[in-house]
Amino acid sequence: MPARDPLADAPDPLGSLQRTHYCGEIRDADIGVRAVLMGWVHRKRDLGGLLFVHLRDRTGISQVVFNAETHPEAHARAETLRGEYVIAVAGPIVRRSEDTYNPNLDTGTVELVAHELYVLNTSETPPFQLDEEERAPVSEEIRLKYRYIDLRRPQMQRNLQLRHRVNLAIRECFHSQGFLEIETPFMTRSTPEGARDFLVPSRIQPGQMYALPQSPQLFKQLLMVGGYDRYFQIVRCFRDEDLRADRQPEFTQIDVEMSFIQENGVLEVIEELMARVCEAAGVEIPHLPLARLTHAEAMEGYGSDKPDLRLPPMAVVTDLLAPGDLPVNGPLVAIRTPAVGKLSRREREQFRDYAKELNLRVFDDFRGLTRKMPGQMASIRDRLQAREGDFLVLASGLQAASGPRPDESVLSAAGSLRTRIGSVFSDRHGLLRDRDLRFLWVTDFPMFEWDSNEEHWTPAHHPFTSPHDDDVEKLISAPEACRSKAYDLVLNGVELGSGSIRIHRRDLQSRVFEALGFSAEEAHHRFGFFLEALQYGTPPHGGIALGLDRLIMLLAGETTIRDVIPFPKTAKGTDLMCEAPNTVPTRNLTELGLGLRVAPNA
Ligand code: AMO
Repeated sequence: MPARDPLADAPDPLGSLQRTHYCGEIRDADIGVRAVLMGWVHRKRDLGGLLFVHLRDRTGISQVVFNAETHPEAHARAETLRGEYVIAVAGPIVRRSEDTYNPNLDTGTVELVAHELYVLNTSETPPFQLDEEERAPVSEEIRLKYRYIDLRRPQMQRNLQLRHRVNLAIRECFHSQGFLEIETPFMTRSTPEGARDFLVPSRIQPGQMYALPQSPQLFKQLLMVGGYDRYFQIVRCFRDEDLRADRQPEFTQIDVEMSFIQENGVLEVIEELMARVCEAAGVEIPHLPLARLTHAEAMEGYGSDKPDLRLPPMAVVTDLLAPGDLPVNGPLVAIRTPAVGKLSRREREQFRDYAKELNLRVFDDFRGLTRKMPGQMASIRDRLQAREGDFLVLASGLQAASGPRPDESVLSAAGSLRTRIGSVFSDRHGLLRDRDLRFLWVTDFPMFEWDSNEEHWTPAHHPFTSPHDDDVEKLISAPEACRSKAYDLVLNGVELGSGSIRIHRRDLQSRVFEALGFSAEEAHHRFGFFLEALQYGTPPHGGIALGLDRLIMLLAGETTIRDVIPFPKTAKGTDLMCEAPNTVPTRNLTELGLGLRVAPNA
């Protein structure tokens, strides 16, 4: 017997068949229309003479009904359908009988009666169910390995469509304000943003490397030198750093730069952008101008340079106690978390352990403290504006802190405790679960941060940030007191963006490099081309970059940027689907003049 030709079972050709509607689009107004729908079999229910298919595409789901009596051929073929088969159906749109309306579907009052069925492709049984109602929980690992199937899920469809709408709104907003979208290179040399570079070896220049940009920082400044005032770009950036829920090795920035501008000008453009983006995303438009705090105010009030305004501020209350009232190191900070009620013993232990990890001594027995010093505790409650049912705690350093800004370490630990208490107890009363988007600007960042490992100053933002006009004299003499013209946009405790007014004078740029401990040769070696450019008529300029992935994550109500990126990497930086990174044949390395000193992981 001749072998059966496997192509005999080939799916139907698409031929000249044309889709008339998307699956999620049909409505009462389409009743009586002959429609052609195409999509994936989401669910099949066989009731004998009647067979129902939920047909899915990126817009939603339509019900398709196959009737054995009226259209036996289509019905018979429909019996062979399985989940994720790709089909086309043609027939009239009819109203469903009222008792079968499906309130969960936008298309729930109508259905397509299939006169014709085309099976365009079959599918293996997918590794996980797409039908949310029937689905067992599925690990993120499996979702990422089969990302092309995961992308069919409504959550991913919704998030990526939101991302598209936001991108469109961004482009429209900038265009309407006279910005130009200009591309900058990916194969370039190192731009310092505080992470390691991904390197690309050159074949033509053996031993030499390109670096993928951590950001287009230097290029956008050079565009200002080149006269392209008002630049923006939606641009991929690359950073080799430890990953977490809101960090990917490649991510997208909304990158902006303007000439002849002061800080307020940048902030206003971005505020308008946020309003337009929220409108496009269908969330509440923030009230403008957005709240602003200086870095010093944010640290004192929230113990963080990215305060979450959905929780009340903390208060430094050292001045309300007499010496010896409590054993304190550095500032004494009072934290209030509203409407928590009574904590269980386990919860109390948990948060005390966490405080210890943060090097904090905490006092949470307010009743005992009130008996001991009623006047002081009443003043503390007053300052916190505490109400019945609030959870109150006092925190101070476990031991005396060191470093150039010792109080800051206690404040920042207290800030972490504040958000931890808020997030752990938020489950109880939804404080951090609400969809409020609480934007704010944090301004007047310090110019430098002390790196206690390397024992030198590093830029708090990046080395191209301008010092405050009043603090230029302190660059070398008192770097710890030098403020910068840097600002961050913060949303619900997440750093959404960072920017600054830049240095546009070569002499000042050299002075900042000096304050950072760069020798003249080192500065020349790393940034010579840039220092040279500053000499050729550089206008005053400034800008910002926002993390697009983080913005979409918050707009979509997600908790990780992986859920708003079509093909993200895991926490270990791997792509589970295409198995990147991977080894390459020795011949490819030799061509690049490279050899491996370590055996690659199996
Ligand atoms: P910065 O380094 O603060 O500033 O980056 C700006 C914003 O980019 C986002 N972001 C990230 N998002 C996802 N994964 C990452 N690994 C990641 N790293 C940063 C954050 C951050 O606020 N050139 C300057 C901007 C400027 O001065 O104009 C810069 O890149 O949301």
